[in-house]
Amino acid sequence: MSKGRSVFRCTDCGAEQPKWAGKCDACGAWNTLVEEAVGRNVGKMERGKGSPGPSPVQLSNIPSDNMQRWKTGLEEFDFVLGGGIVPGSVTLVGGEPGIGKSTLLMQVAARLESAGIRTLYVSGEESPEQLRLRADRLSENAGNIHVLGETRLEAIVHHAAALGARVVLLDSIQTTYTEELEGAPGNVGQVRECAARLMRFAKEAGPAVLLVGHVTKGGGIAGPKTLEHIVDTVLYFEGESTLDHRILRAVKNRFGSVDEIGVFQMTAAGLEPVANPAAAFLAGRTTGVSGSAVTALMEGTRPMLVEIQALASKAGFGTPQRVATGLDHRRLAVLLAVLERRGGLPFGNLDVFVNVTGGVRLAEPSTDLAVLAALVSSVHDRPVPGDALFVGEVGLGGEIRPVAGVERRLAEASRQGFRRVFLSARSKLSTTIEVVALENIGELARRLAA
Ligand code: TYD
Ligand code: MG
Repeated sequence: MSKGRSVFRCTDCGAEQPKWAGKCDACGAWNTLVEEAVGRNVGKMERGKGSPGPSPVQLSNIPSDNMQRWKTGLEEFDFVLGGGIVPGSVTLVGGEPGIGKSTLLMQVAARLESAGIRTLYVSGEESPEQLRLRADRLSENAGNIHVLGETRLEAIVHHAAALGARVVLLDSIQTTYTEELEGAPGNVGQVRECAARLMRFAKEAGPAVLLVGHVTKGGGIAGPKTLEHIVDTVLYFEGESTLDHRILRAVKNRFGSVDEIGVFQMTAAGLEPVANPAAAFLAGRTTGVSGSAVTALMEGTRPMLVEIQALASKAGFGTPQRVATGLDHRRLAVLLAVLERRGGLPFGNLDVFVNVTGGVRLAEPSTDLAVLAALVSSVHDRPVPGDALFVGEVGLGGEIRPVAGVERRLAEASRQGFRRVFLSARSKLSTTIEVVALENIGELARRLAA
């Protein structure tokens, strides 16, 4: 058994199996098995090569506070990573084309280089001249970054090692290929193999690697999804490219918490961290207009305030329209049905449009109450109080349910000037804000009509 052998691990489900096959025995996925050496050093020793490598150590003998991190000073970026870049880690930065991935990485590189941490920025997408043009726009001094226009993995690793780069930024993994595999850059095999080799390079030689990965609207097969299992950290850069705000979200993080977000603004001089992210999406809100309600949702550990707008107008011919932006249209259908049946508000001949401002997407049910408040307000054409916040999940029986982390949400809302909150009568909390406790949506409708 101690012979140097290998197993095959599925990059999708993580299961291992002793024999190679076209598909994974555990999850049935095709072409996901990657060979992994078991007891590689043992095997090497038997073949008379190499050293036995590190010996096992007890966890308690490992200092727990020695995780070094390199801070970039780009606060929102450091925050999302959990305090900075961890040496030897591999981070994937995914996002649609044009969202600002290259800009972000170039700013990171410039800041690290200014802090004396040698970086190599490798681009297979832009020539060094184009990179220079981008760099000139940035508020950071990017002049010291080492850039390389290269797509061959072997050359990239060679130059990174020769330069002694402590952070390697690779833009993008889809344009990188290894000569050892056939197939064009960007195909699944190439993308996986390159990422796996960079991972090995990072673990063995110690530099941190940041990879750019493109995702298409359809979620292309060679996209970062297949890489998520390989790398340590996965960040997604999102936002509407037509709006200024960009959100950087950690969806996987071996060295920090997931679901944290950082908020940036795209300016003429690159990305700037937003100083007051909680209220960033409320900018431009006009109060005193019907069909608008504000809620507080949690992004990781941070509360964020967002405005939900609804417009109900008399439908023309045929089936009334239901259009939702930033909200799942099925969720909207459920909420409309509940409002009609339990709140006595008929929508049968009304077109309904719901919009979450700032390009935010609602994922939590805690925002239900605000959606309903906006709808009720629009139907009655009566604005809700401008200083009111709505937080609560709505059940099919029309009951309003408490949500998690309500005190944190209210504390932030209070800081932003909100003075009253509509929430579930079953919420347990102590707050300085005036509380309007509601049992069900019938009460909500009455309160907003009063
Ligand atoms: P880019 O980083 O090239 O996006 P990605 O690498 O994700 O494809 O950024 C694209 C957009 O950002 C582009 O439309 C130009 C804009 N931009 C600015 O608004 N300000 C700037 O300082 C820079 C460098 C880019
Ligand atoms: Mg780019």
